[in-house]
Amino acid sequence: MDLVVARIVHVLSIVMWIGGVGFVTTVLFPLIRRSIAPDGRLAAFVQFESSFSGQARVSVALAGLSGLYMTWRLDAWSRFASARFWWMDAMVALWTAFALVLFVIEPLVVHPRLRMAMEVADSGRLFDRMERFHRIMLVLSLVAVLGAVGGSHGLWD
Ligand code: HEM
Repeated sequence: MDLVVARIVHVLSIVMWIGGVGFVTTVLFPLIRRSIAPDGRLAAFVQFESSFSGQARVSVALAGLSGLYMTWRLDAWSRFASARFWWMDAMVALWTAFALVLFVIEPLVVHPRLRMAMEVADSGRLFDRMERFHRIMLVLSLVAVLGAVGGSHGLWD
């Protein structure tokens, strides 16, 4: 029963989090690119995205806690050393990358840099780089979801 609850919390937080990354990457970036001149794009993006990053922090925390709980309950630690369970390593690697971005790099590095870039005139280039970064993270996230759903149901056995 507790495992089922942990799985529900895990999947719901991943739906909100990766769904948000999908929306930002496939809808918000293209919309801003189409409708705003290069110099104003970064400011527009930051305005919209800041409300998502708070929500993403909660989802990342819940996904990590529920994932660790399942690993402990299933006593699945040895999976991390087994190639058949590559998707367990993929989940943790992706989680670590997002947690670093949301809790460390974004507040300490990205926000001060964004403020500087908005004052000088290279904010369009930074917007392009951020769009590329989001595309890469979305593809990696989808691969991890594919691997984890397949793996939880025996596809890679
Ligand atoms: C600290 C990070 C994480 C840990 C420790 C963790 C651990 C787990 C565990 C133990 C399971 C259950 C496997 C089983 O029943 O055999 C699971 C399932 C799953 N995880 Fe994670 N996970 C983490 C992060 C993530 C991330 C970042 C994603 C998204 C890409 C993700 C997506 C999934 C999915 C889609 C399932 C399968 C749900 C199902 O089909 O029932 N997890 N995870």
